[in-house]
Amino acid sequence: MNSKLIAPSMLAADFGNMQRDVEMVNNSDADWFHIDVMDGHFVPNISYGMPVIAAIKKHATKPLDVHLMIEKPERYIEEFAKVGADIITVHYESTVHLHRTLTQIEDAGCKAGVVLNLTTPVSVLEDILPKCYMVLLMSINPGFGGQKFEDMTYNRIKKLRRMIDEQGLNTKIEIDGGVTDKNIKQLVDAGADAFVAGSHVFKSDNPTETIKRLKLLANS
Ligand code: DX5
Ligand code: ZN
Repeated sequence: MNSKLIAPSMLAADFGNMQRDVEMVNNSDADWFHIDVMDGHFVPNISYGMPVIAAIKKHATKPLDVHLMIEKPERYIEEFAKVGADIITVHYESTVHLHRTLTQIEDAGCKAGVVLNLTTPVSVLEDILPKCYMVLLMSINPGFGGQKFEDMTYNRIKKLRRMIDEQGLNTKIEIDGGVTDKNIKQLVDAGADAFVAGSHVFKSDNPTETIKRLKLLANS
């Protein structure tokens, strides 16, 4: 059963050839498009917003997994839903009333998830977990692709997996940052379900083959 999911990060795509890269993902073994939205405040970088997501959506045949790295994401949830987000994840560190923001995402017709920065303890999610379709654990400091994976992530996955299992939930664990064919199997063994991969996919000679390999390794 191919239950482990691969989500290529479009941040590493060639923006001048976005349609080509979207179609590459459509025709690959990938499961979702990972879309990184950065505002230059929550993270020290600016990526893209609604018009680019709408353009990706126009060609995409797989769900859009939209990762909001913006302050007060509650200001924009409906707009992201409108341009085609299927899953919306918000940072725990970016929104004061997390429960309300997750409800807003659900009301907009999307699946809701929470993202934790590297040093935010997974225990803060204990009470909100039943409301999370997914928890995204950052394995780098958010803001840029191409950074080195932080090994502290393995223990964080194990702790979160334990919490999810103890509560008898189906919440998915997604990992974002520095995922490659070298660490994906170990991440699966620790208890993760979904994997974002940006530079490892798009900077490779054959992105389609690289996705295929990640998918095979994750499900082996
Ligand atoms: C960084 C983003 C990531 C990024 C991952 O803040 O959240 O999704 O694109 O890139 P790689 O896979 O290159 O580490
Ligand atoms: Zn991301």
